[in-house]
This record gives sequence, C-alpha cells and structure tokens, in this order.
Amino acid sequence: MSGESPILVEVDGGVCWIRLNRPDKLNSMTLEMHDLIQKALDDVVKDDSVGCVVITGVGERAFCAGADITNFPKLSPAGAKEFSEKGQKTVQKILSHPKPVIAAVNGYALGGGCELATACDFRIASERARFSQPEISLGLIPGWGGTQLLPSLVGPAKAKELIMTGAMVKAPDALQMGLVNEVVEPDKLIEAVGALAQTLVSGPSIALGKAKKLVNDSVSLTEGLSAEAEAFSELFATEDMKEGVAAFLEKRKADFKGK
Ligand code: COA
Repeated sequence: MSGESPILVEVDGGVCWIRLNRPDKLNSMTLEMHDLIQKALDDVVKDDSVGCVVITGVGERAFCAGADITNFPKLSPAGAKEFSEKGQKTVQKILSHPKPVIAAVNGYALGGGCELATACDFRIASERARFSQPEISLGLIPGWGGTQLLPSLVGPAKAKELIMTGAMVKAPDALQMGLVNEVVEPDKLIEAVGALAQTLVSGPSIALGKAKKLVNDSVSLTEGLSAEAEAFSELFATEDMKEGVAAFLEKRKADFKGK
C-alpha cells in the first residue's frame, strides 16, 4: 500500500465510502487522515448524488485503533490541545452532517476509533469487532469526544466503566449495552451496511436530516468538548502520561506513580 492515500474515498450507488487505509498500523489516525476525512465529509454535503456516508477500515483486523500514539512523545500540552481539537472537529462534522453516517466496524474500534464510530448515526459491527477506550492505560483520557458521546449511548455508569478501566468489549456485549445497532457475521458486514445505506439513500433526505439534527442537538456538546480538550492537554504535562506512552511504544506494562 505504499504511496496509497491513508484515506480512500469512493462514491457508489449514492453512498460515499470513506475507508481508513493504514492497515499495518491498525488504521490508527494521523492528523493528515483527519484533514482527508473532513474534506471528504465537506464534499459530500455539496454532492446531491450522495445520500449516505459509510466509514470503515481497510483490512481484516481494525476499524481504527485510535490516534497514532507514535506522535504523542513529541506533543506539548498546547500541541495536545490542538490534536484533541482536530479530532473533535472530525467528530463534530459527522454529528452535524446533514446526511446519515454509518460506521461499518470491521475490527478493533479503540480510543479515537471508538469515538469516530460513536459519532456516527449507526454502528453495524462484525462479530470480530472489539470496542474500548484504552486511553487510561496511557495515563490519558479520550480526547475526541468520548467523554461526552459515550455516556449518551451507554449511560454514565457504563461509560465510566469503559473510560476508567479501559476494558475491551466484544461485539455481542457492545450490542447489549447499546453501543452498536447490529452485529453480523464478518463476511456479511458490507452487505448489511450496504442494505442499510440503500434504505437511507432512498429515504426522505430532508426528514432524515432533521431527525438526525434534533436527536444530536439534544446532547449539549460545546462546553463538554472544550473541557475535554483542556483536560486531555493538561495530562500531557504528567509523568504518568509519558510513562504510559513509553510503555506502549516499548511494548511493556506501564508503571504509574500518580504524578
Ligand atoms: N498508534 C500507533 N501505532 C499503533 C496503534 C496506535 N494507536 N495501534 C496499533 N499500532 C501499531 C503497532 O504499534 C504495531 O506496529 P508495528 O508492527 O510497527 O510494531 C501495529 O500497529 C500492529 O499492532 P500490534 O500492537 O502489534 O498488534 P496486537 O495484535 O499485538 O495488538 C492492539 C493490537 C489493538 C491491542 C494494540 O495494537 C493496541 O493496544 N493499540 C493501541 C490502542 C490504543 O491505545 N488506542 C488509543 C490511542 S489514544
């Protein structure tokens, strides 16, 4: 895949497929990938031939394993705030997009990957999908809307369990807690998502857009997202965060000190 774009965009039958294309790094997200997704989402707003967007991951293993952690050691708290706000912008573009957005979760949806899926209007998961907000293992918290969006899907109790323990959830458990809409066999995922997308494409687009907006506007996000970006940034000044990220990069267990 060398030389290929990390985001592939294809319009087919009224559906815009956005594919995260860094499978050897489990589709973890760089800032460039956010720019490309944001551009694709903006283009779809203006394109009358498109009625629905699907976001998915290339490869068998991952939807998206979150932010590209290799960038973290060089981020200052100010840089971390920008990083958080960049991801939040993608999430907000999905939430406020006039057209329905489906996450086809083909594998790991971790950290920012889980947040990306959470922002979508529908989450259809392969039986192989796994969900987690593992930032706590890095001495961090979710920074792309997870602290605000996850509670609205699974309730505050489950959201705190996931965010504060970093527990990994299998697809059937994600279905039970309301994190996903449907779980299908891995080789039926694209078919199931395609069928849902066609239903949406042939639906009344103005009513669909209004329904989405009314449900999403009921969650007040502005202050919560800004507080999340602030807290995410402050954690970049802690020893625990440096230790957590170093431990991930060195493939060892972190030794946190509370500093
Ligand atoms: N950022 C950067 N690289 C990542 C990544 C991330 N978020 N997630 C996975 N990768 C890379 C790995 O470093 C590895 O690269 P390498 O082959 O150059 O060593 C490659 O993707 C494959 O991942 P690997 O860890 O070897 O696979 P695994 O099967 O042993 O473990 C996971 C899979 C998902 C459990 C593990 O990759 C993981 O914990 N990823 C981090 C998830 C995370 O914390 N996300 C939140 C970020 S804020």
